[in-house]
Amino acid sequence: MAKQPATKAKPAGPSSFVIFGASGDLTHRLLVPALYNLAAEGLLPEAFAIIGVARGEKSDDAFRADLASGLARFASAPIDQAVARRLFGCVSYVNGDAEDPAGYERLKQALARSERACETRGNRLFYLATPPAAFAPIGRHLGQSGLSHEENGAWRRLIIEKPFGTDLASAQALNRELLEVLHEDQIYRIDHYLGKETVQNILVLRFGNGLFEPIWNRDHIDHVQITVAESLTVGRRGRFYDAVGALRDMVPNHLFQLLSLVAMEPPARFDAQWVRSEKAQALDAIHVRDEAAALQDSVRAQYVAGRIGGEEVPDYRKTPNVAPDSTTETYVALKLMIDNWRWAGVPFYLRTGKALKSRRTDVAINFKRAPFAMFRDTPVERLARNFLVMRIQPEECISLHFNAKVPGPVVSIAGVDMTFEYEDYFAAAPSTGYETLVYDCMIGDAMLFQRADGVEAGWRAVQPFLDAWRNAGAKGLATYPAGSEGPPEADELLARDGRRWLPIA
Ligand code: BG6
Repeated sequence: MAKQPATKAKPAGPSSFVIFGASGDLTHRLLVPALYNLAAEGLLPEAFAIIGVARGEKSDDAFRADLASGLARFASAPIDQAVARRLFGCVSYVNGDAEDPAGYERLKQALARSERACETRGNRLFYLATPPAAFAPIGRHLGQSGLSHEENGAWRRLIIEKPFGTDLASAQALNRELLEVLHEDQIYRIDHYLGKETVQNILVLRFGNGLFEPIWNRDHIDHVQITVAESLTVGRRGRFYDAVGALRDMVPNHLFQLLSLVAMEPPARFDAQWVRSEKAQALDAIHVRDEAAALQDSVRAQYVAGRIGGEEVPDYRKTPNVAPDSTTETYVALKLMIDNWRWAGVPFYLRTGKALKSRRTDVAINFKRAPFAMFRDTPVERLARNFLVMRIQPEECISLHFNAKVPGPVVSIAGVDMTFEYEDYFAAAPSTGYETLVYDCMIGDAMLFQRADGVEAGWRAVQPFLDAWRNAGAKGLATYPAGSEGPPEADELLARDGRRWLPIA
């Protein structure tokens, strides 16, 4: 079958791309390869300048050489030197620190020079590829110095990486600080899950087909399972991870993106305003529980020594820069109820963890069982539930599991799968997953970014779990061997309701 190529998009308009944290890992590993891919696809404007801001002196040429060597290392496709030369045609470097006003003065001058030389028409995208502590100070300085002020028809936008806050209060405070100097429509809060095609496709599957939406509710759906399993261990991220844990790292952001796309009401229009409003409302409808109920409906666990793919993995607590008595969870399972008309009584079970048996992200919609009456006098013992699995990664597919008759004279029924694989139908361009996000910000489409209310609704829903676990300390923290499917307590969470997780492997 001939594969369908992507529909061609137009190049974004002229702009400067200012990277704070320009010498960091994110810049080299993701941003520059993503910019390269956009350039190779013809989606970057001719008039395009890159300005790096980081601590320490460096010449423009040395910075350009850094970017080129990062690209050589991390490019997701063979490099066409002509494209790379164009991409790095207008590069400058500014020595600056988040808190130092003199750095912003230097940035102002560098922008004025490159805007003249590269004709970027004053449009500026500020990308905060910095540690989170720098988000608010950078936002404040950009506002106060006038650098982010939109004037003479030029746009000024800010992309902020995750994590956006560490709990509800800090997320609200960060939103407040940013919104003092910027308008909401200038702020693009990234959740890289929204850059995944398969995540975006959840909307199309639900609302672009007449088939699913009529049965997408409590009358037909028994429950929903959302799994983000990682076989990666915490490895060298001990310092970061031990302060954060699985819940903060994954749930209010990535898992809630999946949940809100599955649970939201149909937006009246396919635009940023409508889609984000409906998503935020779905998250807002999550029943906020008290601490006792939060303990009852959650499992947190830490991995202990085991094997993954033949490799020995030590206890999480032996990871460098992790406290030897750490109570940080590396696995979490939650049961959430969405308190609205569509979902009343339908549990959403979420789980995510590190050092699990395999890597797998999916959403499984479990439909109610068909009535058994007709098969009562046959050898059939039970009917399995139908489920629809949207697999986000590593394979990108959608499969429908249903019952079929096993051929033969005896009535016997078995579960079978019908699967659609993206790669069978569509040709995908090489991607880091950031291309769409960067391009959308350049063209001013905020649909795939988080709005302040959505971020806060996510934290509001997880706050009772954070509070309950902090107060419980080590009490109730389960363990699971690295390389397993998680702790038995997570199975019990579903078994209590007469349900089972789909296997991770
Ligand atoms: C990041 C988390 O946001 O997402 C990491 O900080 C996690 O801990 C990663 O590994 C997972 O992303 P993906 O795209 O590999 O599922």
